[in-house]
Amino acid sequence: MIIIKSQDEIEIMRESGKVTGLILKELEKIIAPGISTMDINGFVEETILKHKMIPTFKGYGGYPAAACVSVNEVVVHGIPSKEKILKQGDIVSVDVGSTYKGYVSDAARTYPVGEISSEAERLIRVTRESFFEGLKFCRAGYRLSDISHAIQKKAESEGFGVIRDFVGHGVGREMHEDPQIPNYGKPGRGPRLLQGMVLAIEPMITQGSYEIEVLLDNWTAVTCDGKLAAHYENTVVITDGEPELLTL
Ligand code: MF3
Ligand code: CO
Repeated sequence: MIIIKSQDEIEIMRESGKVTGLILKELEKIIAPGISTMDINGFVEETILKHKMIPTFKGYGGYPAAACVSVNEVVVHGIPSKEKILKQGDIVSVDVGSTYKGYVSDAARTYPVGEISSEAERLIRVTRESFFEGLKFCRAGYRLSDISHAIQKKAESEGFGVIRDFVGHGVGREMHEDPQIPNYGKPGRGPRLLQGMVLAIEPMITQGSYEIEVLLDNWTAVTCDGKLAAHYENTVVITDGEPELLTL
């Protein structure tokens, strides 16, 4: 069941989304060669707590940190570590969730670490652009898979792979609500979008095959072929007109 949010609920989610978005913006200035993935997590957790919010991910299904920090071939759910030091040429995806008055916002970005290859830059850019292609269909009246199809079309037209094993989702009191939102599929399928739905749209795109495996820590998801992956996510409200991005 897809839960429709009231204007009062959306107002709370707006506050939550502001903090999640702000953290991802600030990280642009912090991410550089020499810092550890745990340093990134520390900044994320401190900033959420400073705003009197709760780090949504910490303790979720036993997840041990406030942020997921995923370097290079890690697609999602990288666990922060003091030993994992970013170096020039890496790309790093950071996924953040904040809970405010019981409501969750969820967003992610992929960042360059210093100078990166033009191919890595293109992967990051196309992943972001595929989100905005999907966003064009985040309007009342379209069907859910119109979003999925638009994302897939953009990513594959640029020669990239679309992850199948993780999907976007509804978001609200729970981080993962209905519906599941694949980043691939035929258009014109699934439920019609309605004003008041809140969706986390999150393309996860690879330079090569979309196949992944999860490491023995039961979290870290890596590409099987070892090629780079990028992630771009925002919490989006379906309105009677333009979609509202809560985490930008
Ligand atoms: N933010 C991720 C998602 O978009 C989930 C993080 S998993 C967690 O679905 F365990 F770290 F919370
Ligand atoms: Co999400």
